[in-house]
Amino acid sequence: MASNGKTFSTAAERWEGIGPYYAMFPTRFADAVIEEHTAAGDVVLDPFAGRGTAIFSAAASGRVGIGVEISPVGWVYASAKLSPASSEQVEQRLLEIADISDEYAEQAQSLPKFFSECFSPSVRRFLLAARVGLDWRRCTCDRTLMAILLVYLHGKEGQALSNQMRQTKAMSPDYAIKWWAENGKKPPNLDVVEFMRQRIRWRYAKGVVEADGSRVYLGNSVNLLPQLAQLVCEEEVPKAKLLLTSPPYFGVTNYHYDQWLRLWLLGFETDAYVTRGPYQGRFTHPVRYRSLLKEVFCHAAELVTDNAVVYVRTSKDPFTKEATLDAMLAAFPQKRLEERFQPFRKPTQTHLFGDKTLKAGEADLILLPS
Ligand SMILES: C[S@@+](CC[C@H](N)C(=O)[O-])C[C@H]1O[C@@H](n2cnc3c(N)ncnc32)[C@H](O)[C@@H]1O
Repeated sequence: MASNGKTFSTAAERWEGIGPYYAMFPTRFADAVIEEHTAAGDVVLDPFAGRGTAIFSAAASGRVGIGVEISPVGWVYASAKLSPASSEQVEQRLLEIADISDEYAEQAQSLPKFFSECFSPSVRRFLLAARVGLDWRRCTCDRTLMAILLVYLHGKEGQALSNQMRQTKAMSPDYAIKWWAENGKKPPNLDVVEFMRQRIRWRYAKGVVEADGSRVYLGNSVNLLPQLAQLVCEEEVPKAKLLLTSPPYFGVTNYHYDQWLRLWLLGFETDAYVTRGPYQGRFTHPVRYRSLLKEVFCHAAELVTDNAVVYVRTSKDPFTKEATLDAMLAAFPQKRLEERFQPFRKPTQTHLFGDKTLKAGEADLILLPS
């Protein structure tokens, strides 16, 4: 049993862990909010879907989860766990990628120093083949294999394809090289096919979650939500009963920077940790941050029913909380704020839903139908 009480005895428990992601919801928290505010068949919307915790939890409990995520890493995780290919297809694809990996021997030698300190030569060849060969944007099978590869790309010694590293975020190359040298750490010599095959089989051992109708879109909610609203008008998509989300926290992290190594595997340049990605400045510029939140919540308002509940977990940092609340109230002026966040200034172990997972720095802002 895992330290969080999970026994991994169901498909949902095996798939919900895909994959390591910064500031993700604890799954039991999403389960409890969805259980309290929706019934089977209802739609749950998450415009900042991350690794898809809320929408997957909705799908696993007979609801329909609809999400939007701008980070390709979060999207690959979310999309793969909502609709994975069969294990046979994924294992077959693993072998096909391994078969072409020798073609990348030369390229594997000429990667920046970070890569030779992080991965053994055979792992480097395999990763280069996967980087070029897996069409994760279009092909379900390739996306599923890519999602599982991303999970194990870096992490603790013995549990990942890499030299010792944190699993949730990739260190900067200079820092990592220095740390490995100081601590005498070398990349693990492992058989990639065997390593991945065991993990694929474990993931599928209890089956998969049937997520009929649930989906996640890759892109910016500012642009995609209006398109979804159009589909709602045309009644191709039902309105959501619950908006459950967690926006980026002001000034806390840049999801592009932290995930630079996983983005590299997805085909982006090795300098993602410098360029900081498409939303550079959005989470550190106060005016742009406010306008991002306002635009997203206002567009989301078009996608929910009149009696929908809006449940937002955010940072307790005063600016983030105030900007989030301001955007929520602008989008949903008719709703009643439940100030459940007040007691959490001093978090206890007994608050909401017996949820022990609310971190000291987080607050829940809830809008209810008046
Ligand atoms: C706090 S995280 C959400 C984590 C999520 N609750 C989970 O459990 O994985 C915020 C997410 O919003 C995404 N994001 C930021 N700006 C966005 C935008 N304009 N459109 C869609 N997603 C966006 C970030 O990439 C990040 O994954």
